[in-house]
This record gives sequence, structure tokens and C-alpha cells, in this order.
Amino acid sequence: MSQVSFDSQVSYDEPSRTFLLTTPATSYALRIGADDSPRHVHWGAPLTLGQAAALPTHDGVTSSFASTSGEELAVEGGARFGVPSLLVRYADGARGVEWVHEGHEIEGGRLRVRLRDRHYPLGCTLHYAVHADNDIIERSLTLRHLGSDTGDDPIEILRCDAASWSVPAVSGARLSHTVGEWSGETRLRRVEAPYAETVFTSRRGVSGHFANPWLMVDAGDADEDRGDVWSMVLAWSGSWRITAQRDHTGGPFTVTGGAGHDGLTWRLRTGESHETPVFAGQFSRGGFGATSRGWHRYVAAHVLPVPDEARPVVYNSWEATGWDVTLEGQRALAERAAGLGVELFVVDDGWFGQRTSDRAGLGDWQPNPERFPHGLGPLADEVRRLGMRFGLWVEPEMTNPDSDLYRARPDWVLHMPNRRRTELRHQLVLNFARTDVTEWAYGWLDRLVAAYAIDFLKWDMNRAFTEAGWPGHPDAERLWTDHTRGVHGVLDRLRRAHPGLRVEGCAGGGGRADLGMLARTDQTWISDNTDADDRVAIQHGYSQIYPARTMSAWVTDSPNPHTGRSTPLRYRFHVAMAGALGIGGDLSRWTAPQLAEARDLVELYKEIRPVVQFGEQYRLTDAVQYRAGDRVVVLARGRDRTLRLAGLSPSAVYVDDATGAEHDAATLLTHGLPLRLPKGDRPSTVVRLTRKR
Ligand code: DGJ
Repeated sequence: MSQVSFDSQVSYDEPSRTFLLTTPATSYALRIGADDSPRHVHWGAPLTLGQAAALPTHDGVTSSFASTSGEELAVEGGARFGVPSLLVRYADGARGVEWVHEGHEIEGGRLRVRLRDRHYPLGCTLHYAVHADNDIIERSLTLRHLGSDTGDDPIEILRCDAASWSVPAVSGARLSHTVGEWSGETRLRRVEAPYAETVFTSRRGVSGHFANPWLMVDAGDADEDRGDVWSMVLAWSGSWRITAQRDHTGGPFTVTGGAGHDGLTWRLRTGESHETPVFAGQFSRGGFGATSRGWHRYVAAHVLPVPDEARPVVYNSWEATGWDVTLEGQRALAERAAGLGVELFVVDDGWFGQRTSDRAGLGDWQPNPERFPHGLGPLADEVRRLGMRFGLWVEPEMTNPDSDLYRARPDWVLHMPNRRRTELRHQLVLNFARTDVTEWAYGWLDRLVAAYAIDFLKWDMNRAFTEAGWPGHPDAERLWTDHTRGVHGVLDRLRRAHPGLRVEGCAGGGGRADLGMLARTDQTWISDNTDADDRVAIQHGYSQIYPARTMSAWVTDSPNPHTGRSTPLRYRFHVAMAGALGIGGDLSRWTAPQLAEARDLVELYKEIRPVVQFGEQYRLTDAVQYRAGDRVVVLARGRDRTLRLAGLSPSAVYVDDATGAEHDAATLLTHGLPLRLPKGDRPSTVVRLTRKR
């Protein structure tokens, strides 16, 4: 058999037209089928190219009763009846594709498979990329209007997903995903997949509070420590759709996903290309824990702009002051925050324009002249004098009708002729698909960051799209994609111009927590709900894909302003220490003993920060464990018990930093760490262990 191996990560067998992608612990194989369409062959345990080439192809598209066909990109046309990833319509009314395989390129862990339609001027390149340091397979595609003698008419795109994934038929296919709402994001659910098409989606213009754009599939037998798990994550910050299809005939379980929700249509014109976002996948044999750690490593190594920098301890004024922002009030908070060891002071909403409530001011990004008669300079100087960095809240994609911006540019918002402009939170969405709007946004952001040497922006986005039109534009529904690209573009440009700038992504809490945003931000505000009890579940769901260093978590007041629940300060800290710690309470009301306790806890956090932010995370029962090098940190709550640890080398010996007690790792792994928690309401503790040998 003549095999041609191009590099260690991607190889090709010419006779069977099989490609093999090799990651450190998994293999993925696809094949150009008899009809030239790309067919799925394998995704799972390692195989050699010879073994993959010998596997059968599922070429069954010849029957009215055919099951889903396991294609790398499910299309319409022929006897295909599954969920299409690509839906197109040509000017003469014909639909679907009949592929011709044009060639492929392999280079440095990347594979490009080039296809075109047999008759119409539609080209499509499937992109695959693998890395030497993890098992993630990145997939996306490029569509191209090839314009030719077969016609220059635009091609209507009714759906263009980034990839279809095929999970081997497993008994009892189970789906893991998150559900949520404002103030209750990323709640993990595991459900048996119905024999149906199950759609996970956002139609809101952001990735959304209600579902996060990822999915895991297992046979119903995986747990944190063991079991085969296939997971897929879409790197997109706008509307999206992921459809899982399970069919009772035992065919592969298919998952197709990409940008945009159902029903959006736009046209691809001669010479034009369209790139989808990445829809990445990972197969893991180590259960949900290893799956999450795989994603965390990938996000750190290949997504975050500045992965290795410690996230600072933040103070944010929002819960303390709301819109009642004054120079004096902020100064007083800054002084107390500095006293606690806070490293970055962030002024939230209410510093600009006529923004004294949510009814006015969005779009007018100059410091409010009554509140800050000399601009923000005096406050920024004071914050720096106190030894902290200075950050500001912004919401660049929005305007209030009661603003100078909207009075001057009412045409800049998303709107449709003959339709009301629905206001949500008294605001309208600026159309970031327009380059005049993104130029304006970049201009004021650039000037603002430069004027005050701003260290940190919290980029918020507080309402869903409605009446998402663009009167006069020939292809207005493109804005659903192009708005997101506009937001990404402004952020990328701003960071290039200000390399020291750090950004927190936020959308009314965790309404836009996704890999698209994490590629140009440093952390995510994952929920407006700062109640420590509720946070435990929200953080658990967020941790399924996203690493701790990106998870902003504040300690706020008790009773909690959202839930009215009272919890001990120490417990609130211990829950928030599981991510990038912040403080968001009204420090003017904290007593001297509370401030002293908070100071000690901030100091403790700084000590464990390298382990929490850069370590491997293990979710234990009522506890989270982090391990980095020789150090282990356990944040535990609940009751006295022995807590089995994870991920240690059994021959190691650990010493408890606080008590000096020695523990054999073998015992910690099998019997557990004896936990003695303080008495009282919501007992919690931080255990620090260091490896002795
Ligand atoms: C929503 C955010 O999630 C909050 O933290 C706060 O910044 C408000 N917006 C301000 O309007």
C-alpha cells in the first residue's frame, strides 16, 4: 500500500483517500468517499494510518431509508435526510451540493481539504488543525463564490455551520450542557439524548445566558474521573446554533454547529469568501474532569492573549454605588480597597455623560462634568497613588435614545422600516457591522485609554438584538455575523494599540462567555449573581470549559443584594478564591474586624493564586482542588470528612503548609485528606499542601 505521511500530526493514505489526524492521546480520521464527499471514519483512541485506512466507509446515501451518514460536513442533496450543516440555494432555484474533491494541503498540524460543487461556482475548504500539546481538534470552513462560466449570480446561504462532528454510536448517549438565565448562568445539566434533533441556540446576538455554546456526549457512564467523553466548543460570541441528532437505528451521533440562528439568509457574491468561526472538538478517556482540564490547557495555550500573567485582585464599585458615582465616593472606596491589598480599582457604570440611571447617557463617553469636573485624571491619579491600577466600565455597543449620540446618529442603531425600535433597559444596539460605527467606537476607546493610561476595561453588553435590520443595505442579515466580527475587531485593534490594556468580557453578567471573547479578553464576568451559594453552581458550570484564571469572582455584601441571603465573609471569600478574586461590596459599610479579616484573606489568596490560576483543576465533592508543580490547594466547604484528592503521583509525600502534617499521596488518593472545618454557618477552609518528595 502506498502511504504518504506528511507530518507527524497529519498523514494521508492515497489509495483509500484517508486522512489521519494524530493528537497526543487520540486519533481522528476522515476519508474522501466514492462520491467525493468527505466522510467521517474515526474519532477516539489512537490508530495508525494503516488501521484507519482499513476501516469501512459509511457511504450509504442511496436509500429513502438511509440513516444519518456521518459526513464531515452534512449537506443537502441526494438521499440525505439528517440535519444539514450547509444549506445553499442557487439563482436558478437548485439547492444542495454535489462535491468534487479538488485537492488538499498538509502543513504543520494543519489539513485543508478543498472541495467544489460539480456544477455551481461554490468552493468550500474544510480546515483542521491539531496541536502537539493537547487533544483538541480545531475545525472551521471557508466558502468561496468561484464566479465562472456557470454563473456570477449570488449564492444564497441559508445555513453554514463550521463543522459536523460524528460521535460513535454509544449505548445511552448522554448530553452534558449548561442552561441559564440572567443571574443564574452556566448551570450544568446531564440528560439522556432523545431520539430526535436537539437544538441548543441563542437568537439574541450574543452567545447568551440561556445556553453556552458547547456540548459533551458520553455513553451515560462517564464521571469526573473516568469514561469516554466527546466534547465540542464553538468559538463564537454572537447568535449560534448547535444541533445534536440521535437516531434509533444506531448510526453515529452527529453534532453540527456554527454561527447564526435558524432562518438567517444572506448572499455570497462572486469572488467573495466566508470564514466560519472554529468549532473545536476533543475526545478524552478520562471523564469530565480530564475533558475540562484539556479545554483549560487549550484555552491557556491557544486562545487567551496573555495567558501567563496573574490576574489581579480587583475592586469593582458596581454593587456599592450603582449609578451613584462621585469622585469623593470612589476615592473613599479606593482607599479602603487599597488597604485590603486590592491591585486594580475599577469604576463601573455611571461615570460618563448623563448616566445617572439606566435611562440616559450610553454613547456619550466623556466623564460626567458635574461628577468629574476635572475629568477622570484626579481619580486615576489617586488610585495609582494608592498603589492600584485603574480600570473603567464601558458598553460600546449601546446607546440610550436619551443621549447626544443617538440624537445625532439615530440611523446607527439596529432598526427596520415600519417597525418599532424596542428598547430594553432603555437602550438600543449600535450596528457594529457598520464600519463608521466601529471607527467611532475605536476612536473614543483609543482616546479614553490613552488619556488616562487605563489598565483595564470591563466591556459590557446589556441587551439582546431586536429589529435587527439595516435599512438600505442589500444583505442586512449579514449583520448578525458582522456585528460580532466588528466587536472582535475593535477589541483586537485596541489591544494592539495598547499592549498593556487588559479586558474583562461581560454581557449583563455571563451573557457572552465564550472562546470568541476569550481570544481577546483576559477574564469574564460570569454572573451578576454574587451570592456565594448560587455561585458554587454557576462556577461549576463555567469550569466545564473555561479555566479558573478567566473567571472573575467577587466577594460582596451580606445579606446579598440579589438574593437577600446572609453568608459568612470567610465563606464568600473561599468561594470567590476559586477564580480571579475580586471584591465588590460596599466597603464603606464593612466594620474594622471585617476589613481586617478581608485583608488576611486577600493575602492568603495572593499566596495560593499561582496554584489556582495556573494549576490543573479537579472538581471534588463540595471542594475544588488545584495542583501546580509541587503545590496543591484545596478549597473545601461542607462538613468534617476525609476528602479524596485527585491527580497526585501516588509515591509522593505532601506536607500541610499550615500544620506541618505529612500525608502520603497514596493515602490522599485512596482514603482522603482529613478535613477539620471551623464550626458555624457554612464551614469552609483552604488547605495548602507542598510536595516534600
Ligand atoms: C451589567 C454587569 O453585569 C454589571 O456587573 C454592571 O456592570 C452593570 N451591567 C452596569 O450597568
